[in-house]
Amino acid sequence: MQQDQATSPRTPALTALGHRYVLPVYRPRELILERGKGSRVWDVEGREFIDFGAGIAVNALGHAHPALLEALQAQAHKLWHVSNVFLTEPSLRLAEELVGLSGFAERVFLCNSGAEANEAAIKLVRKWAAAQGRSPDRRVILSFEGSFHGRTLATVTATAQPRYQAGYEPLPGGFRYLPFNDMPAVEAAMQHGDVAAVLVEPVQGEGGVVPAAPGFLAHLRALCDAHGALLVLDEIQCGMCRTGTLFAHVHDRVTPDIVTLAKALGGGFPIGAMLAGPKPAHAMGVGDHGTTFGGNPLAAAVARAVLRELRAPALMNNVSRQAGRMREQLERMGTELGVFRTVRGRGLMLGAVLAPAYAGRAGEILDHAARSGLLLLQAGPDVLRFVPALNLEDPEREEGLDRLRRALESFLASAESAA
Ligand SMILES: Cc1ncc(COP(=O)(O)O)c(C=O)c1O
Repeated sequence: MQQDQATSPRTPALTALGHRYVLPVYRPRELILERGKGSRVWDVEGREFIDFGAGIAVNALGHAHPALLEALQAQAHKLWHVSNVFLTEPSLRLAEELVGLSGFAERVFLCNSGAEANEAAIKLVRKWAAAQGRSPDRRVILSFEGSFHGRTLATVTATAQPRYQAGYEPLPGGFRYLPFNDMPAVEAAMQHGDVAAVLVEPVQGEGGVVPAAPGFLAHLRALCDAHGALLVLDEIQCGMCRTGTLFAHVHDRVTPDIVTLAKALGGGFPIGAMLAGPKPAHAMGVGDHGTTFGGNPLAAAVARAVLRELRAPALMNNVSRQAGRMREQLERMGTELGVFRTVRGRGLMLGAVLAPAYAGRAGEILDHAARSGLLLLQAGPDVLRFVPALNLEDPEREEGLDRLRRALESFLASAESAA
């Protein structure tokens, strides 16, 4: 690693293109990443980074995994796109596999992103409720404070965080928000008799890596059954082995009505999926929904390869082993440096919550991490988020955590000198 070498003109020149031409909805680090292998990534200057973010929990099998490369290349030589008015084998096989693996779904809708999967789920809930003869004012979807469900107008409305919604009003109606993990609040909301569905992440990602409390999802299931509502689980970030099981809700022993997937399902190739159980699966018919690119053969072929790799017992064992070690090491580091209040999460979806003295400064720590050769994410201003590749290996974990320690030490030194 040569983090301190003089920067060649490539980085500033390329960064300038971003400043000049790209809609400035992100504030990316000034790094131009060029290639990756496993849990390591290199930028255009040849600097090497350990990747503890894996996209945002997307590159579940690391970068340039040979099985995914092979699947993509094989399909690329055959057929890229034909639209959904024709059938192709990869998407049909993928749908069959997702139904079989889910243990609850009867039908699948393939799309290109998480927001599209949730948008499809919201529309399916509405159609299902309409088919029950419910008037529009009795098709309310409950979601939870701190949630994140996407950036389309409907999914950003389901996202119960005002900072994502500000300025986009008027927002679509029919959504109500409740505090996460607050069962009495859900019970009270159900009494209105107008709830068609509850939409929830088994582990909130963007909201700070917050798992559903033990029993919360099971209680939601029981309440949905009692009040004729659907349980919709957004597993876009926490699904696909991230928590150690293919589907995150398996830990909670609940059977959902709808599950949405994206991110890791494509291992870095864009894809989303909505899985529908027996109640809502037949509420949509020909012409009710659609997508040009969803289920295209390239994405479907890669997703099938991802599913094959994720189901290998060695991979699942690696998740629980790496997660245990990483959590333990983060807790130790947090205690030694006094920088974390707690470490929380499930499997390889961990959040280190900053101690009150450093609240709001996660972004600064990420800058120090990048300078130390570590790609890291935050989940809100107070939480460092660890969502590495699920096939992370010991040397990369150790080296990544060493770099994190260096980053935290340099952050603490700069915080002290500024005080
Ligand atoms: C839980 C959850 N749902 C939905 C989304 C939206 O996915 P996409 O960015 O692919 O539209 C995200 C993205 O971060 C997510 O974490």
